[in-house]
Amino acid sequence: MGVPDSTEGAREARQTPYALLGGDAGVQALVDRFYDLMDLEPQYAAIRRLHAPDLAHAREKLYLFLSGWLGGPSLYIERYGHPMLRRRHLPFAIGTRERDQWLACMAQAMAEVGVPEELRERLRQAFFQTADWMRNRPG
Ligand code: HEM
Repeated sequence: MGVPDSTEGAREARQTPYALLGGDAGVQALVDRFYDLMDLEPQYAAIRRLHAPDLAHAREKLYLFLSGWLGGPSLYIERYGHPMLRRRHLPFAIGTRERDQWLACMAQAMAEVGVPEELRERLRQAFFQTADWMRNRPG
């Protein structure tokens, strides 16, 4: 039986994480909360100290990158070309502690900006793959 794919369920399944987050404003809010928490919460101190005192540059770059990574406009690539994320992270010593702080900070930010649980779980898995790939020292 041909089920038209214009049903609510099918539309939902086709939505990108970018759209589900609320588009550009949603990505901005998530990135802002992520770096606010990194700045505020002592449990993220190990990754905070890898960053410059002023987080403006990091906020802008992560926002541009996540826009494309989440299925929205490829803002980072338009401006800077291929992100080469692993290479760009080599100057920072990233082990499991740093990876896990990054992921916990992002999980807290997603919860606090009200990302629905199902999407949070999906993104947590995707962020894990990327963050784990960024590890560049044992431990
Ligand atoms: C695994 C733990 C991670 C640590 C400790 C870490 C740390 C950092 C630091 C210190 C910078 C430099 C910020 C600056 O230039 O002021 C940076 C840049 C960046 N990070 Fe991460 N990061 C991690 C994981 C990730 C993940 C999972 C993503 C993406 C999903 C990501 C995306 C970026 C981007 C797009 C930049 C900007 C790169 C550029 O200079 O163009 N990072 N990160």
